[in-house]
Amino acid sequence: MKITKAVIPAAGLGTRVLPASKAVPKEMLNIVDKPAIQYIVEEAVAAGITDILIITNRGKGVIEDHFDHAFELEANLKDNPSKADIYSSVKSVAELANVYFVRQKETKGLAHALTKAKSFVGNEPFAVLYGDDVIVSEDPVIGQLCRAYEKYGCGCVGVKEVPREDVPKYCSLDVTPLEENIMQVHNIIEKPTPEEIISCYSILGRVILPPEIFDLIEKTPPDKKSGEVYLTDSMVMLAKEGKLNAVDFNGIRYDMGNKLGIMKANCEVALNHPEIGKDFREYLKELAKTL
Ligand code: UTP
Repeated sequence: MKITKAVIPAAGLGTRVLPASKAVPKEMLNIVDKPAIQYIVEEAVAAGITDILIITNRGKGVIEDHFDHAFELEANLKDNPSKADIYSSVKSVAELANVYFVRQKETKGLAHALTKAKSFVGNEPFAVLYGDDVIVSEDPVIGQLCRAYEKYGCGCVGVKEVPREDVPKYCSLDVTPLEENIMQVHNIIEKPTPEEIISCYSILGRVILPPEIFDLIEKTPPDKKSGEVYLTDSMVMLAKEGKLNAVDFNGIRYDMGNKLGIMKANCEVALNHPEIGKDFREYLKELAKTL
């Protein structure tokens, strides 16, 4: 079944990038000249997704404004022939896809955020793109996962091998190979201790889920310490039924939820930017000589 719907959870508090995320949602922090969430929506659209639900929270209304027309601004730019490119770049953001919004209202974790997407999703498989994970790739990463879903007909998580010392920040997957970069997932340990690490494969920001996930989330007990329902725990139930695969994706992932991730994204995107790439490269070379 072709996947046409995506959900972008963007209702987190963004505490790791405060105070930048105090009044500006972290998903709206820019990478050179576009907010992070625009790269994510563009990735989904490039993979053939037509309908996108963004899950927001109080104070995140600017995300809605960003994907709407800005009539006064557009009218102003339209009348100025020297600003034709800027005009089309501003206008096209409002025309990328059918973008919908719902509020999570209480910040109770990723799985709780996803339950707000139930009526949007209906009885179809859907893509989830975490609102603070920007992944740059010629072949959109969510498209790589959609192809795996279409081939195997079961849920699919985007993974990368991360340095062993970083695995406790993410999760650790028990996997066996199916083909080239696709594996079957048997178990997932969320935020493992060093002793609990099964492999260095961690889930990074992209998932395809079947609609059954909503029933599994309801059956998932909240974490004893945090009280949050972890999506990982619900996905473990899929894995135990043999219904979850992993794709070791091709792409570079930037964590816009932490300061170093934001700087890496800006540096690397700037180096390849058609307008400023050359000058920025020269600047970086000069700067590197002083380090
Ligand atoms: P994170 O855990 O990275 O986001 O969640 P956070 O809670 O904002 O992080 P801190 O506060 O810096 O530790 C991954 C994604 O899930 C969304 C976030 O917006 C982010 O895109 N999320 C998280 C929700 O939509 N709702 C939640 O309750 C929690």
